[in-house]
Amino acid sequence: MEQQLEVMLREAHQAMLDADNEADLQNIRVQYLGKKGRLTAIMKDMGKLSAEQRPIVGAIANKVKDELSEVFETRMRALKQQHMAKRLEQERIDVTLPGRHQKIGTKHPVTLITEELVQIFSYLGFSVAEGPEIEEDFYNFEALNLPKDHPARDMQDTFYISDNEVLRTHTSPVQIRSMLKHQPPLRIIAPGTVYRRDSDITHSPMFHQIEGFMVDENITFGDLKGILTAFITECFGKNVGVRFRPSFFPFTEPSAEVDMQCVICGGNGCRVCKNSGWLEILGSGMIDPEVFASVNYSSEKYSGFAFGMGLERIAMLKYGVNDLRLFFENDVRFLRQFHA
Ligand code: DAH
Repeated sequence: MEQQLEVMLREAHQAMLDADNEADLQNIRVQYLGKKGRLTAIMKDMGKLSAEQRPIVGAIANKVKDELSEVFETRMRALKQQHMAKRLEQERIDVTLPGRHQKIGTKHPVTLITEELVQIFSYLGFSVAEGPEIEEDFYNFEALNLPKDHPARDMQDTFYISDNEVLRTHTSPVQIRSMLKHQPPLRIIAPGTVYRRDSDITHSPMFHQIEGFMVDENITFGDLKGILTAFITECFGKNVGVRFRPSFFPFTEPSAEVDMQCVICGGNGCRVCKNSGWLEILGSGMIDPEVFASVNYSSEKYSGFAFGMGLERIAMLKYGVNDLRLFFENDVRFLRQFHA
């Protein structure tokens, strides 16, 4: 038996040293020292030994067990360390590598100019309203003093959805919706997308406008001039000249188109202003009594002014963009140039 124990000790010792992972090592321990292991099997024959022999063999068996337990512990520690070292090696992070940059987009110039105009008009006491892009004939035309068959409807080539519905041709219908919903005093601007059957180098079938209007008692043409001049000088600079030219819109009377001095040539004349030194930038006027009638406002009591302008045009002048199509091609080389 002593010999058997000796052989087992040597075998088990070697097996443990040879084990190259924790699971194998555990199995080997169970195989030799476990309840159904080799040591237990050998010890079954203890009963056959003489009374003198038994304690001696028992002591040897205990020593074998202790020794193997120690070999096991030592090997286990070594394997754990190896494992950890391997993981540290494999999972090493090279902190000197450059980081992966998150690509952050830029705001579209039309968004930028919209935000800027909203900001300027909010300083002047205006708040923002919105309306639907699919609009009823009533709001887009009728209530704005453009009855069916009115020749001025031809000024805006319209996409019809049905007899009664259009893609809004301007942001002016938001005037009607706002006035039907609220009572004066009102100071509202309405930026948004508009659509016209028009497509060439200087026209896009989809573009953007901003509408504005103010209604209260005693609003005069002087208020219109004051607010629009303040807006233009805030947007383009204090020294830019502004002029008001008589014009016609069905929804305003009197009506005026507003020009500002050419920002490209400073008023000296260039290709952009067709050598006139001036650029037309918006339409405006005193709200027509017919419009007030369609929203049940008393034009005895109230008066107001309104204006509308194309946002792409303002953005072109402000950012020096010379081709309308750039706004709609979504070429990142163009878009990336606009940082807030
Ligand atoms: N709705 C006009 C257009 O799209 C622009 C306009 C002109 C709006 C005069 C107004 C205004 O509110 O008073 O051409």
